[in-house]
Formats: sequence, structure tokens, C-alpha cells
Amino acid sequence: MAQKFLIFSVIIFAAVLITTSQRARGEGMYVGSETCMECHDEWYESYMKNYHAIKGDPRTPAAKQGCESCHGPGAAHAESEGEEGTILVLNPKSATPAGEKNRPCLGCHTKGKVVLWHGSSHEQRGLACSNCHNPHQEYPKGFSKPTETEVCTQCHKRIRAELLRQSHHPIREEKMKCSDCHNSHGTIAEKLVDAQYSNLKCFECHANVRGPLLWEHPPVVENCLTCHTPHGSPRTPLLRAKMPYLCQRCHSNVGHSSQLQARGANESGQSVYRVLNNRGFYRACLNCHVQIHGSNHPSGKSLVR
Ligand code: HEC
Ligand code: HEC
Ligand code: HEC
Ligand code: HEC
Ligand code: HEC
Ligand code: HEC
Ligand code: HEC
Ligand code: HEC
Ligand code: HEC
Ligand code: HEC
Repeated sequence: MAQKFLIFSVIIFAAVLITTSQRARGEGMYVGSETCMECHDEWYESYMKNYHAIKGDPRTPAAKQGCESCHGPGAAHAESEGEEGTILVLNPKSATPAGEKNRPCLGCHTKGKVVLWHGSSHEQRGLACSNCHNPHQEYPKGFSKPTETEVCTQCHKRIRAELLRQSHHPIREEKMKCSDCHNSHGTIAEKLVDAQYSNLKCFECHANVRGPLLWEHPPVVENCLTCHTPHGSPRTPLLRAKMPYLCQRCHSNVGHSSQLQARGANESGQSVYRVLNNRGFYRACLNCHVQIHGSNHPSGKSLVR
């Protein structure tokens, strides 16, 4: 009898010892999602509809610590019945530093789109994953808003205004989205453009403009954005300036063959050619220079064919 009691107390003692040392290290204090559910049934339900709750995939939180894969060990929180500061609060408005909020997510998401997160402009400006994703929502890609455009334009209000302009990429028609051109998690190229440089991105969909061409127009080869804006413009098609001023940023009017010229005389009576009129013909550069992106015609040097 005494022997049995001794063994029993040794077991109890060992158990207490292990738990206290784990508590000191802050580890292993997991209570499991079922416990969380007792007090947070709505959050439990919303989580259950998310990809993360799929138990069949061994990589998901459901197959690991459930709620606590993201919110951290919750024993102290459950015991204290929700005392402040006992659990990781992940919503974008909470005071938890972004780095801490993102750590559990980045612990699992180490590949694919997120690899360049560190050092990206969004990371540097203190964005959290939860600014754009909410695992308690059913929206596609775990978004925090119903559509990707809404996710982005809640902060990028100027871009939202640009999308409303007459000439625009069909984003508001939902035929395109921001992530067709950007990777919000970080890129090699500037401005989060998801290509080595922006012209390569444009060629993905506008292959007809891609060279090599017999007669190239240097600004086209250099950067499409010299003449076009990516999001929206009052001038079709997505032009940065009105015609012909767009061209005249680089080209002067002098000596152009499209100007009407006539033989006249100067003060000393010499016969010279003068420009009579440059209104009628001069402005619509594209009427003659139809191959503005470059030409493959043997005599297309001046981009007229
Ligand atoms: C005994 C009840 C109880 C249990 C069990 C419980 N919570 Fe809570 N929790 C609360 C209360 C109360 C609050 C504070 C009021 C609120 O925001 O609902 C809270 C708040 C939170 C918050 C927000 C904290 C804040 O400061 O805004 C999160 C996140 C949270 N709980 C997650 C969990 C997770 C994950 C579990 C399971 C590990 C869990 N809770 C278990 C009662 C509980
Ligand atoms: C994949 C990570 C992840 C899992 C798993 C997860 N959550 Fe959350 N939870 C979040 C994020 C991110 C937010 C912030 C949502 C937002 O934008 O408001 C959040 C918000 C909450 C909140 C609201 C607290 C606040 O910030 O106001 C509660 C409560 C909560 N979760 C409980 C749970 C419970 C309970 C479970 C398990 C049934 C769970 N979570 C599973 C990531 C997760
Ligand atoms: C325990 C590991 C784990 C944690 C922690 C985790 N995730 Fe996930 N997440 C996954 C797995 C597995 C998938 C399945 C998709 C895949 O990557 O193949 C997934 C999918 C996603 C998706 C795509 C969902 C979709 O519907 O296409 C997003 C977005 C996402 N997670 C964001 C987050 C965010 C934000 C956090 C932190 C709040 C987080 N994850 C925490 C494992 C995790
Ligand atoms: C500025 C908004 C934004 C932030 C911040 C953000 N994401 Fe995303 N995330 C997106 C968008 C948009 C997509 C959809 C991309 C697509 O469809 O190509 C996405 C997709 C994903 C996916 C699915 C990727 C796939 O391969 O399809 C995962 C996983 C993910 N994000 C994880 C994270 C994690 C982890 C963080 C935090 C480190 C994070 N995201 C921060 C906007 C964001
Ligand atoms: C919570 C606010 C917020 C959300 C949501 C957000 N951004 Fe940003 N974004 C910023 C901030 C802050 C900056 C850096 C300052 C700036 O240039 O405006 C930035 C910068 C950028 C830049 C320019 C990067 C650079 O290097 O200059 C791009 C492109 C961008 N965001 C795209 C997106 C896309 C696409 C989404 C949606 C998937 C998105 N953002 C969602 C806040 C946000
Ligand atoms: C057709 C491709 C494309 C699409 C679609 C696109 N962008 Fe961009 N975006 C670009 C390019 C290219 C740049 C770089 C501009 C530069 O270098 O001047 C850029 C620049 C930006 C910038 C930083 C420079 C600035 O103008 O302030 C932000 C912010 C931005 N985009 C947000 C968005 C958001 C939000 C969406 C979706 C509503 C979106 N973009 C859709 C191609 C695109
Ligand atoms: C993901 C595909 C995609 C990418 C990448 C893309 N575009 Fe587009 N672009 C489109 C679509 C779709 C249209 C609309 C075509 C239509 O309405 O017939 C369009 C239309 C245009 C137009 C004509 C607009 C008008 O009002 O008629 C211009 C100019 C243009 N894009 C320039 C660019 C530039 C510059 C880039 C690189 C920064 C780029 N595009 C990248 C798909 C793309
Ligand atoms: C020198 C200025 C300039 C540059 C640089 C430029 N474009 Fe254009 N682009 C124009 C003009 C002007 C038009 C209108 C042509 C017309 O109306 O006949 C146009 C029209 C377009 C159109 C719509 C009509 C069409 O041809 O399909 C697309 C798409 C386009 N450009 C894509 C691009 C891409 C992609 C690049 C970079 C590889 C680029 N542009 C570089 C001036 C330019
Ligand atoms: C960013 C400056 C820039 C802009 C804007 C620009 N061009 Fe050019 N263009 C050049 C350069 C540089 C050359 C090459 C000049 C050379 O080879 O001597 C060139 C060459 C040409 C040529 C062929 C010249 C030749 O040598 O035969 C024509 C025609 C032309 N551009 C028309 C236009 C038209 C029309 C526009 C407006 C839609 C325009 N360009 C906008 C810089 C520009
Ligand atoms: C009526 C037709 C026509 C119009 C309109 C026109 N061009 Fe030209 N342009 C030509 C022809 C034809 C040539 C070739 C002349 C030659 O080879 O001597 C040419 C040549 C050029 C050249 C090559 C250099 C030069 O001066 O010979 C440039 C640059 C140029 N045009 C730019 C423009 C710009 C910019 C506009 C609009 C402001 C414009 N053109 C309007 C027909 C036109």
C-alpha cells in the first residue's frame, strides 16, 4: 500500500516538474482548438471554412496546433479567461509589432510568392500579412476583402482614382487584377513589378510590340512607361501626354517633311523654302507614323509603314 502511494507521488511530482519547466520556457502550453471553441465559437466556425482547417493536408495548422499555430500557445490565456496580453493578436489594427504578427505565417510559408518578403516595400512600411489576408474569411486567397482590387485600393486611393479614368487596364471590369503585374510580397524589380524589368511584364500580354524589329523606336525598347501609364489615363491609349506633345517632348518641329512648304523670297530677294502652314498636317503624327512601336518594313525607317 505504502509502496503504491510512493510510486503514485513520484509520478505526480515528475508531472508537475515537467509542466513547470515547460511553463518557464513558454513551450507546450497548447490547449487545442476545441478549448478555444468553448469561448470563441464564431471565430472557430469562420476558421473551419478556411483552407487552414483542412486536416487532410499535413502542412496545415489543423494538422498541427490548430488555432495556436497562428495565435501561439494559449494555456495561460484560457486559464485566465482571456486576460489581455496572454495571446498573439493578429488583426492589422492591434499594437503587436508587424514582425511578430508575421512570424507564425512565415514559419509555414517559406516558398512561392512570399520568398522576397523581407526587404520588400510592404515589409519595410510595417504591413502585416493580415493587412491583406484574413484566415477567418471565406474570400478567395484568404483575402481580407471580397476582391483583390478592394484589398489593394483600401490603401492605394490614388491608384483607385486612376482606374476610373477613361483609358485604363480593365481592372475595374474584373478582367485583370493588380497581381497580374505586381507581387505584393516582394520582387527583384522596383515598384513590386513581378518581372525582371517592366517591359518584360508588358510583353507577357502585348507580344506584338516585342522586337526584334528592323527599325526600332528607341524609347519603346527602353521603357514602355515613357509614353504609357500602367493604371489609367485621360488620354487613350493610356498615354502620358496629349498628342502631339507626347512626341514633342523629344522631337522638334523643324524641317519636317509633313509641313507645307512653298517657294518664297527672303529680304535680300533670294528664293527659299518657307513653312506656310503646320496646322493642318502636323499634329496627328500617328496618321503618318503608324508603326510607332517600330517597323519591319524595308523602308519603314521613319516608322511610316
Ligand atoms: C475561457 C474562455 C476563453 C478561452 C478558452 C479562450 N479565450 Fe480567447 N478570449 C477570451 C476573452 C474573454 C477575450 C477578451 C474579449 C474578447 O475579445 O472576446 C479573449 C480574447 C482573445 C483574442 C483577442 C485578444 C485581444 O486582446 O483582442 C484572441 C486572438 C483569442 N482570444 C484567441 C484565443 C485562442 C486561440 C484560444 C485557444 C487557445 C482562446 N482564445 C481561448 C476568452 C477565452
Ligand atoms: C492561419 C492562422 C490563424 C488560425 C489558424 C486562426 N487564426 Fe484567429 N486570427 C488570425 C488572424 C490573421 C486574425 C486577424 C483577423 C483580422 O484581420 O481581423 C485572427 C483573429 C482572431 C480573433 C479576433 C481577435 C482580434 O484580433 O480582434 C480571434 C478571437 C481568433 N482569431 C480566434 C481564433 C480561434 C479560436 C482559432 C481556432 C479555431 C483561430 N483564431 C485560428 C489568424 C488565425
Ligand atoms: C502550420 C502552417 C501554417 C501556418 C501557421 C499558416 N499557414 Fe497559410 N497555409 C498553410 C498551408 C499548408 C496552405 C495550403 C496552401 C499551400 O500553400 O499549398 C496555406 C494557405 C494559405 C493561403 C492561400 C489560401 C487560399 O485560399 O489560396 C494564404 C493566403 C495563407 N495561407 C496565408 C497565411 C497567413 C496570413 C498566415 C498567418 C496569419 C498563415 N497562412 C499561417 C499553412 C500555414
Ligand atoms: C499587400 C497585400 C498583401 C500582403 C501584405 C500579403 N499578401 Fe499574400 N497575397 C496577396 C495577394 C494579392 C495574393 C494573390 C496573388 C496571386 O493571385 O497571384 C496573395 C497570395 C498569397 C498566398 C497564396 C500564394 C500562392 O502561391 O498562390 C500566400 C500563401 C500568401 N499570400 C501568404 C502571405 C503571407 C505569409 C504574408 C505575410 C508575410 C502575406 N501573404 C502578405 C497580397 C498580400
Ligand atoms: C495597409 C495598406 C496597404 C495595402 C492594403 C496595400 N498596400 Fe501597397 N503600399 C502600402 C505602402 C504604405 C506602400 C509604400 C508607400 C507608397 O509608396 O505608397 C506601398 C507600396 C506599394 C507599391 C510600390 C512599391 C514601391 O517600391 O514603391 C506597390 C506596387 C503596391 N504597394 C502595390 C500593392 C498591391 C498590388 C496591393 C494589394 C494586393 C497593395 N499594395 C496593398 C500600403 C498598402
Ligand atoms: C498592367 C500592369 C499593372 C497592373 C494591372 C497594375 N499595376 Fe501598379 N504598376 C505597374 C507598373 C509597371 C508600375 C511601375 C510604374 C513606374 O515605374 O513608374 C506600377 C506602379 C505601382 C505603384 C507605385 C507607383 C505609383 O504609381 O504610385 C503602386 C502603388 C501600384 N502600382 C499599385 C497598383 C494597384 C493597387 C493595382 C491594382 C488596382 C495595380 N498597381 C495594377 C503595373 C501595373
Ligand atoms: C496580364 C496581361 C497584361 C499585362 C501584363 C499588360 N497588359 Fe496592357 N492590356 C491588357 C488588356 C487585357 C488590355 C485591354 C485590351 C482591350 O481592351 O482590348 C490592355 C490594354 C493596354 C493598352 C491600350 C489601352 C487602351 O485604352 O486601349 C495599352 C497602351 C497597354 N495595355 C499597355 C501596357 C503596358 C505599358 C504594360 C506594361 C506595364 C501592359 N500593358 C501590361 C493586358 C495586359
Ligand atoms: C514613344 C511613345 C511610346 C512608347 C515608348 C510605347 N508606346 Fe505604345 N503606343 C504609343 C502610341 C502613341 C499609341 C497609339 C497608337 C495609335 O493610336 O495608333 C500606342 C498604342 C499602344 C497599344 C494599343 C494599340 C496597339 O498597338 O495594340 C498598346 C497595347 C501599346 N501601345 C503597348 C506598348 C508597349 C507594351 C510598349 C513597350 C514595349 C509601348 N507601347 C511603348 C506610344 C508609345
Ligand atoms: C523619350 C523620347 C521620345 C519620344 C517621347 C518619342 N520619340 Fe521618336 N525617337 C526618339 C529617338 C531617340 C529616336 C531615334 C532618333 C535617331 O535614331 O536619330 C526616335 C525616332 C523616331 C522616328 C524615326 C526617325 C528617323 O530617324 O527616321 C520617328 C518617325 C519618331 N521617332 C516619331 C515619334 C512620334 C510620332 C512620337 C510620339 C508618338 C515619338 N517619336 C516620341 C525619341 C522619342
Ligand atoms: C503628313 C505625314 C506626317 C505627319 C503628320 C508627321 N510626319 Fe514625321 N515624317 C513624315 C515622313 C514622310 C517622314 C520621312 C521624311 C524623310 O524621310 O525625309 C517623317 C520623318 C519624321 C522624323 C524623322 C526625322 C526628320 O525630321 O526627318 C521624325 C522624328 C518625325 N517625322 C516625327 C514626327 C512627329 C513628332 C510628328 C507629329 C508632331 C510627325 N512626324 C508628323 C511624315 C509625317
